[in-house]
Amino acid sequence: MKFSHDFLFGAASASYQIEGAWNEDGKGETNWDAFSKIPGKTFEGTNGDVAIDHYHRYKEDIQLMAEMGLESYRFSVSWARILPTGDGEINKKGLEFYNNVINECLKHSIVPFVTLYHWDLPLTLEKDGGWTNKRTAEAFVKYAEVCFRAFGDRVKHWITFNETVMFCGLGYLKGAHPPGIQNDEKKYFQATHYVFYAHAKAVEVYKNLKQYGEIGITHVFLPAYSVDGQEKNILAARHANEYETFWYYDPILKGEYPRYVVDQLKEKGWTPDWTEEELKTLKQNAGGNDFIGLNYYQPIRVEKMEEALLEQEHSRESSTLAPGNPSFDGVYRTVKMADKTYTKWGWEISPQGFLDGLHMLKGRYGDIKMYVTENGLGDEDPIIEGEIVDVPRIKYIEAHLKVIKQAIAEGIHLKGYYAWSVIDLLSWLNGFKKQYGFIYVDHQDQLNRKKKLSFHWYQHIIETRGEEL
Ligand code: BG6
Repeated sequence: MKFSHDFLFGAASASYQIEGAWNEDGKGETNWDAFSKIPGKTFEGTNGDVAIDHYHRYKEDIQLMAEMGLESYRFSVSWARILPTGDGEINKKGLEFYNNVINECLKHSIVPFVTLYHWDLPLTLEKDGGWTNKRTAEAFVKYAEVCFRAFGDRVKHWITFNETVMFCGLGYLKGAHPPGIQNDEKKYFQATHYVFYAHAKAVEVYKNLKQYGEIGITHVFLPAYSVDGQEKNILAARHANEYETFWYYDPILKGEYPRYVVDQLKEKGWTPDWTEEELKTLKQNAGGNDFIGLNYYQPIRVEKMEEALLEQEHSRESSTLAPGNPSFDGVYRTVKMADKTYTKWGWEISPQGFLDGLHMLKGRYGDIKMYVTENGLGDEDPIIEGEIVDVPRIKYIEAHLKVIKQAIAEGIHLKGYYAWSVIDLLSWLNGFKKQYGFIYVDHQDQLNRKKKLSFHWYQHIIETRGEEL
């Protein structure tokens, strides 16, 4: 079987992780520009000031994507380039940069798939309470509209937010991302609520503009398995799915929060301050979602925690999703299992976990269209005689594309695959040491680009529409 012609083979990136040019052409400062410069926050103090200098090298990068045969490129817009203070004046130079990127993609027949928010928030908004302040949600809607009007004649695929659980969880529970707050559950749930509200409003605005493209949201997908057949662990896995998955997709697709979580939040005093109008907005716009995006790297294996560890000190290491950590509410912990395979950074490799998870989503949400908006292997790639021989990455992506093929055959509505990442880029907390790309960036030699083995392999997969998988 070949993948159908309306299935998009793509790859992805995010503004902060590639662009650099952090203070050029009128761009405003962001939460990450500030946070990454606080000592100890990132691996070896790496930051996105230069990143891989895509801002100045986008033509070369898109040329390489075209050579790879990429059908679609998922990238994010940096809000602070467009609206430097979040909700004030528009910066024309910012619009110009993304117009250039979009036009360059189209010149090479690459479909631009645009994420509006991949974690870099204008600092002005962060200082005013960030996602715990409704002002940020309202500002986002304004920013989204500016982007729809400026780029919507050519961009027909929009993702509002990337992985709410990550930027809110790491920002307000673990303190590993800005604003660096730990163990504040009330703020965490408040922030997620304003994100969902901002999403719903942006969907409403988009539909009213009648640009006839599609819009959705992307979350990291961490389907939970119980470590064994014991009832307490099965219940712990359910708990994890309710909090890590349904809390994130229910308000989008059903327009309401999962009852299981809502009841517990009430008991604990963690319910967001929400208004009738906000809840109504979620409900009214749920039908406007055209798809959901899934960033899948690994499932989680869960066991009930016998002793609650509520006041946790979090380190950068404990925040990077490797198993062995208690859940924020002390109900369960994630476990590394002897019979599973893990990457160098401790993430489980489990294509089957994705297939099972897709069936769980279909069971809950029906036939919604889905895109895999991220999937890939973080590795320290071997270099042999100057060639980057990233065989483990090829094996990883191959195994996941195989289950995607199977899922489609089993009736799952999947319409595209975006490998993370198109090119080696800055990892938020792991610097440049952890690589994901098809294209290597030489930090010892003026950030020169070089094709990896996986570049040629993916080119062949696209050319043959995955027939040999
Ligand atoms: C996803 C993010 O969560 O994981 C990406 O959307 C990120 O931006 C990717 O780079 C990999 O994470 P890490 O920690 O391995 O760099």
